[in-house]
Amino acid sequence: MSELQRVIQARNWMKTNENFLETWHAHVGYDMDLFDSFEKGASVKEVSSSRNLSEELLERWVDVGLQVGHLTKKKKEKVKAKKKMVRYASKASRESVGILLSEMMELHIPTLLKYPDLIRSDERLTYLSDKFAEIVAETSTFLEKAAVSPILKWVKQENPASIIDFGCGYCGYLSAVHNKYPETELIGVELSREVVEKAKARVSQDIDVRQGDIEDFLESFEGKTDMIMAHNLLYYFKPEERVTLFRKFAGALTKKGSVTIICPLVYAKHGGAFTTAFNTFMSAHDNLYPLPSPETIKKDAGNSGFHVAGMKPLIREGGWYLITLKKNS
Ligand SMILES: C[S@@+](CC[C@H](N)C(=O)[O-])C[C@H]1O[C@@H](n2cnc3c(N)ncnc32)[C@H](O)[C@@H]1O
Repeated sequence: MSELQRVIQARNWMKTNENFLETWHAHVGYDMDLFDSFEKGASVKEVSSSRNLSEELLERWVDVGLQVGHLTKKKKEKVKAKKKMVRYASKASRESVGILLSEMMELHIPTLLKYPDLIRSDERLTYLSDKFAEIVAETSTFLEKAAVSPILKWVKQENPASIIDFGCGYCGYLSAVHNKYPETELIGVELSREVVEKAKARVSQDIDVRQGDIEDFLESFEGKTDMIMAHNLLYYFKPEERVTLFRKFAGALTKKGSVTIICPLVYAKHGGAFTTAFNTFMSAHDNLYPLPSPETIKKDAGNSGFHVAGMKPLIREGGWYLITLKKNS
């Protein structure tokens, strides 16, 4: 390879990494409420002294923000945050999506950076569910925009009298069903105490949100339900245990029962870049497991008394699918 080609390659990598700078900048701004501090225009000196922050390091962050277009320069050394940053990367904003930055920068990127050590040692990290449960439950709600409508369509078609949502997070799906079909009996099962508390505060009291492990719940569940939701859940279960989980689902369902699964699918038609990266993250942990593929879903469903009624992409670039299973009659 010629010297020029080496330099071009180095430049290409530098250029591709420029995008990372935007995410890093937004993450720091979100984490520290800096876009709020600069919302109305302020100098670095003013913000550093009012908030007792390092003036030098704040100045550097501001310099990057001016370059990536998150901040603009005003008269008299004042700097102002762009409206979209206050809107989407401020904790105080109702439209904020900053929590996604926390998940990427505090959970995903640090894991991926540990990969050389993990590959060499064949060791795994432990996913700290207590630390990240609220972040992960919150970021999962971003999918609802795409998923609620097909879920409601499925509910309309299947007309279940009762639904159990396993790993319900903040109960966004149950809430949507409750708004449209208030007569449906709804139960949410969620492991994290913090998430359960917040879910209870967010949703109607008619939704029965229970704290506990799915396995314990299924063990003691004596009734039958018409529909089960397992949304963004399968990667908490070992691939070889999913068929057992599906069998337990089948046991908890009435004759014509159904399951809706939302999950990124690896080796599917869509979203290869995202799902392989997601899989890399999962496999780096000893308590998270690889994503299913369309084939493994079909196989596990077939071996547990279900057939796949539908498998449709929800978000193509993310490889997220909605899979519907129907119990065999
Ligand atoms: C990624 S979140 C998805 C939340 C929600 N289903 C959604 O799609 O928006 C997965 C949730 O499952 C919960 N969870 C994981 N394993 C569980 C288990 N064994 N029993 C109950 N909940 C569990 C986690 O605490 C987390 O809140």
